[in-house]
Amino acid sequence: MDMSNPPPPKGLIRVERLQVQFEAGGKQVQAVDDVSIRVEPGEFVSIIGPSGCGKSTLLNVVAGFLPASGGTVLVDGQGIHGPGADRGVVFQQYSLFPWMTVRRNVEFGLKMKGVPRAMRESAARTLLSIAGLLAFENHYPDQLSGGMKQRVGIVRALATSPQVLLMDEPFGALDAQTRVVMQEILTNMWQKLRISVLFITHDIDEAVFLSDRIYVMTARPGRIKAEIPVNLPRPRTAAMTAGPDFLGLVQQIKQLIREESLQAMGSELADGALQGFLTELGPGGVEAAIH
Ligand SMILES: Nc1ncnc2c1ncn2[C@@H]1O[C@H](COP(=O)(O)OP(=O)(O)OP(=O)(O)O)[C@@H](O)[C@H]1O
Ligand SMILES: [Mg+2]
Repeated sequence: MDMSNPPPPKGLIRVERLQVQFEAGGKQVQAVDDVSIRVEPGEFVSIIGPSGCGKSTLLNVVAGFLPASGGTVLVDGQGIHGPGADRGVVFQQYSLFPWMTVRRNVEFGLKMKGVPRAMRESAARTLLSIAGLLAFENHYPDQLSGGMKQRVGIVRALATSPQVLLMDEPFGALDAQTRVVMQEILTNMWQKLRISVLFITHDIDEAVFLSDRIYVMTARPGRIKAEIPVNLPRPRTAAMTAGPDFLGLVQQIKQLIREESLQAMGSELADGALQGFLTELGPGGVEAAIH
């Protein structure tokens, strides 16, 4: 290959001025408002923001499960017209086929693409070994722990060699210890594969540990409130999470989220049934009252 003129790297996600509205009970709900984000090829980018701010909506538009109401979404310069093998998706719920073994689950997408049996077996086994799951290739999903199931889910999303991996709170259902291990596995796999990741999480530590960059969203309708670069060295290690740089970033993001959550709670309280509660607040305001 001519290294002086390498092909352009793949996996560029560009979301420009995205608007998403829903019809709900005859009313228009603005879920995403004027959101512009970018994931460079090979970059790991997280989105964090209060519940209901439109994170999943944004990801579902990039995945091709939902149409945009306005704005532009491009992956490697192409518009989105439904789901595609160029974009792997992992959700919080495990979505493995229970009647297929681990390896067959991983092979499924390749089979759909018409990849011959021997090739898909070897691709599945390579990926399973990167994820430390080769010993379980002939197990059924029921025989695996939650963390293992989610690892298989990730491997399956990677099997068709997508340029981008879209992950919506993939570790949200796992206990705290398993979650930390999964983060280390994911960051290791990502470093080997060098694909772009758009990752959604509620967990600030998780976002800082994994990401090159973090977008913080406002309460609904979701807009981008801040963009935080994470300049921690790679590979990321568990030891880093106790360092001042890591903790400083976590603190900064915590403050941003707290402002948003309080605002979201405040507006709900103001026009909801808890109006009386609001008038009881002392000088510390909502913040003091909820501690
Ligand atoms: N299909 C739909 N029809 C109507 N409203 C919807 C639909 N999907 C989402 N919404 C609304 O759009 C807003 C954004 O929802 P979304 O699921 O994207 O939030 P989120 O940030 O992912 O929340 P969470 O952190 O709780 O997962 C919410 O107010 C939600 O109620
Ligand atoms: Mg969501």
